[in-house]
Amino acid sequence: MLPPPILSGFSGAEPSHVREGAKEAAWTIRAETPDDAAPIAALVERGFGPGRYAKSAYRLREGVDQVAALGFVAVENGVLRGSVRFWPVAVGPRTVLLLGPLAVETAQRGRGIGVQLMETGIAAARGAGWPAIVLVGDEPYYARVGFSKLPPGRVRFPGPVDSSRILGLSLSAGALLNLSGEVRRPHLDDPVCAGGAGLAAQ
Ligand SMILES: CC(C)(COP(=O)(O)OP(=O)(O)OC[C@H]1O[C@@H](n2cnc3c(N)ncnc32)[C@H](O)[C@@H]1OP(=O)(O)O)[C@@H](O)C(=O)NCCC(=O)NCCS
Repeated sequence: MLPPPILSGFSGAEPSHVREGAKEAAWTIRAETPDDAAPIAALVERGFGPGRYAKSAYRLREGVDQVAALGFVAVENGVLRGSVRFWPVAVGPRTVLLLGPLAVETAQRGRGIGVQLMETGIAAARGAGWPAIVLVGDEPYYARVGFSKLPPGRVRFPGPVDSSRILGLSLSAGALLNLSGEVRRPHLDDPVCAGGAGLAAQ
């Protein structure tokens, strides 16, 4: 099998967004492959812990397949450094992307890996024609790749979610302007989980 395409790599050259004095940047971003599944699961477990199961975003992903073409990993010297994945979600009548989980190994944080993983995923999502991305997270971090807060109450995640942490990014002009409603699973890919999340599954 051919190796996955290398989308960007920094061997020998420092990306401009890596702080001076940070460890030398020598990671590569490439598309996720099936062999990455177990290391990514372990990375996400380390990054988020068991509490992740209670999170709204986790429940939205349960029983739904990730968008396979939008999974990316950062690898350095053959070792996984970080991962980003995207899931489809329904918001009102529209289907958009949910960003996450995004996780970078603790010892490798602050090198620009997280931002570069997101930039790669966002560019691929735009290229694939997705209209917008939403997420629940810290605006000061996600603003680095263009996310901003959505007007309170317009896009509503299930469960107790701080509305000031609901962020969005338009991938096509004005895509967020008419995005409103409950965030739901768009469909179920795994019927075993059908009753699990207690979310409306259309
Ligand atoms: C959040 C996370 C992915 C960032 O990865 P990273 O590779 O360290 O990110 P980058 O190197 O691209 O960016 C680091 C910068 O963002 C800042 N930053 C990181 N998390 C932040 C947050 N929650 N709020 C504000 N700023 C944040 C850092 O302070 C650093 O700032 P600096 O460049 O001014 O020093 C990583 O800390 C992680 O895996 N955390 C655990 C899982 C998690 O919370 N994921 C996000 C929710 S999906």
